[in-house]
Amino acid sequence: FQPGHLPPLAQLDLCHFLSACLLPSCGGSWPEFALTNPEKREKSSTKETERKETELEPEILEVFHPTHEWQALHPGQAVAAGSHVRLNLQTGAREVKLQDEDKFQTNLKGLKKGKRLNINTNTYTSQDLKNALAKFKEGAEMENSKEDQERQAKVKRLFRPIEELKKDFEELNVVIETDMQIMVRLINKFNSSSSSLEEKIAALFDLEYYVHQMDNAQDLLSFGGLQVVINGLNSTEPLVKEYAAFVLGAAFSSNPKVQVEAIEGGALQKLLVILATEQPLSTKKKALFALCSLLRHFPYAQQQFLKLGGLQVLRSLVQEKGMEVLAVRVVTLLYDLVTEKMFAEEDAELMRDMSPEKLQQYRQVRLLPSLQEQGWCEITAHLLALPEHDAREKVLQTLGALLATCRDHFHQDTQLRGTLGTLQAEYQALAALELQEGEDEGYFRELLDSINSLLTELR
Ligand SMILES: *[C@@H]1O[C@H](CO)[C@@H](O)[C@H](O)[C@H]1NC(C)=O
Ligand SMILES: *[C@@H]1O[C@H](CO)[C@@H](O)[C@H](O)[C@H]1NC(C)=O
Repeated sequence: FQPGHLPPLAQLDLCHFLSACLLPSCGGSWPEFALTNPEKREKSSTKETERKETELEPEILEVFHPTHEWQALHPGQAVAAGSHVRLNLQTGAREVKLQDEDKFQTNLKGLKKGKRLNINTNTYTSQDLKNALAKFKEGAEMENSKEDQERQAKVKRLFRPIEELKKDFEELNVVIETDMQIMVRLINKFNSSSSSLEEKIAALFDLEYYVHQMDNAQDLLSFGGLQVVINGLNSTEPLVKEYAAFVLGAAFSSNPKVQVEAIEGGALQKLLVILATEQPLSTKKKALFALCSLLRHFPYAQQQFLKLGGLQVLRSLVQEKGMEVLAVRVVTLLYDLVTEKMFAEEDAELMRDMSPEKLQQYRQVRLLPSLQEQGWCEITAHLLALPEHDAREKVLQTLGALLATCRDHFHQDTQLRGTLGTLQAEYQALAALELQEGEDEGYFRELLDSINSLLTELR
């Protein structure tokens, strides 16, 4: 690998020097590398954030206020005690409503008689308490309009100060659970043959929240919970596969210990089986997310991936009808792997902060030759026909990263040059409009520059 042979898009890539890009970039936040304009990066990261919230990573916690009607509960939302939660199997959404007042009272009475606390939705977890506290503080700071006062009173009724709650719990002999206890409980729920499908999915859904924390993910491993979730990947229920992959994707993310155990536990094979067989799109999406988390920054897993025929699996996946969304993600994953390996070699030379073993492992990942042998030059070039700008952006950056490897193919691919010519005209027009609006280094200008440099290289 010589600097003189850097593909132009990779040369433009500033991402490497921005700490943000060192964060895990799978799934919820597919990487926004490639283009250099910081404003552009901001734009896309907003877009990414939206996607992130709707799709994968329930990071922003808020307390949901249920009513007497069923309403969808979004990832990351906590529910107040006494709410009733169910899983809508049609939509896959969790729904919540207030439990009837007297039913809740009865439950409380039951508790006071010394019954064991009902698992799941009628209890507070430590996280719920934190939320309740945050909500209470927020409530106290509110303006005192009449409406707000009413709302405040309601908030106070629902979310009392944490000390008060703790006192109540002590009276009831309820111990507030640690994250570890919660994870053990959720795994038991998921692993139990007497749990319904809804309960199993709900357990995985809750578990995903906890394993974002590195320590929690490692604890999950320590008591055998990780393997239970990995085995969930070959369940006969697509929803169990989907949510198991969802949990694993979060647990693997930048967590080498967990990644190593997952490889030992057969996670890679199972994920590839999901991607290679007929499954709902949502299941494949999450499996691809988990695969990406497992491979990133883990050259050993990348080697195994190539050995197990992972590239063939991904090739079939991108050629499947109705999987266009996944095609872009696959190409992005490949781009990530190509640049990660490239930078690993550079880093090792420049900074010498990588262990020789790891560099050795990166060197053994025969990624670019495999991509070429298996027709990825052509596949990637064809994906440039996708209509969305951001899909094209990802494809363009990948074409740039593959340029040195695929040059001969690209040269002969008249269709590719035709597409590039059409896109050049389209983005010239869009960039001109952008310029009229005062943006001289806008998004379309960047796309145009990428196209121009590819065309120059292929001349
Ligand atoms: C899961 O269930 C199996 C079979 O019932 C049991 O052998 C195993 O120990 C359980 N695993 C965990 C982590 O609870
Ligand atoms: C999943 O696969 C593992 C090993 O590959 C096996 O032990 C387990 O029984 C399988 N589970 C299901 C539900 O098929």
